[in-house]
Amino acid sequence: MIEGHFIVMEGIDGSGTTTHCALLGDRLTAKGLPVHTTREPSDGPVGVLIRQILTGRVVVPGHRGTHAPSWAMMATLFAADRLDHLEAEIVPNLTDGVSILCDRYDYSSVAYQTVSSGGGAEAARWVRELNRRARRPDLTLVLDVDPEVAAGRRGSRSGSPEIYETDVMQVELAAFYSTIDELFPDDRIRHIDANRDIEGVAEAIWTEVAALRGESP
Ligand SMILES: Nc1ncnc2c1ncn2[C@@H]1O[C@H](COP(=O)(O)OP(=O)(O)O)[C@@H](O)[C@H]1O
Ligand SMILES: [Mg+2]
Repeated sequence: MIEGHFIVMEGIDGSGTTTHCALLGDRLTAKGLPVHTTREPSDGPVGVLIRQILTGRVVVPGHRGTHAPSWAMMATLFAADRLDHLEAEIVPNLTDGVSILCDRYDYSSVAYQTVSSGGGAEAARWVRELNRRARRPDLTLVLDVDPEVAAGRRGSRSGSPEIYETDVMQVELAAFYSTIDELFPDDRIRHIDANRDIEGVAEAIWTEVAALRGESP
């Protein structure tokens, strides 16, 4: 059995990672290729807990107001969720020959937790180390978008913003993502200009996936 490809979509909030995981999944499925679309935080037990924290739904009983969790605590939760996600969902599918399209992976941990720690290189190294046992993807697509463009796209989305969705943080995240390759020198990372319309971005993504598959687009 030939293993599936492990493809990750990354970028700031509103860059289009969810949109393009779905579109790429449809396109691969239309070609008759088995594919499973998933996301991080995952839908497993630790992932559900993280989503509750991100939307501010976990409140400490007896405390006045809510308090934001520390970046280090979040980093350990994300790392635990990732190992659970790999064991329960990602690796079994890849082994069965099913390709995985994953909306965010450990690049998000390094980006979001380093930026929320204040941006130090020590934090980035520690988060990478926490994720040392996380299998490397075959291809990582980083959707680079101007923070103002992404803010406009988030504005048209339903639901309340998550704790990382402040304009200041998103500007720092966009800068972080633009050089994230330096922290993952052995990974196949491709930057996609995601300021274009959805079709333009989808075509650029398809070109990279075709190259991974050894096909012309
Ligand atoms: N290239 C694009 N051009 C215009 N709108 C886009 C583009 N990509 C995504 N969108 C829209 O922006 C919004 C946010 O996209 P989404 O995929 O949810 O972003 P993310 O998952 O990265 O936060 C959605 O309403 C989506 O339809
Ligand atoms: Mg999304």
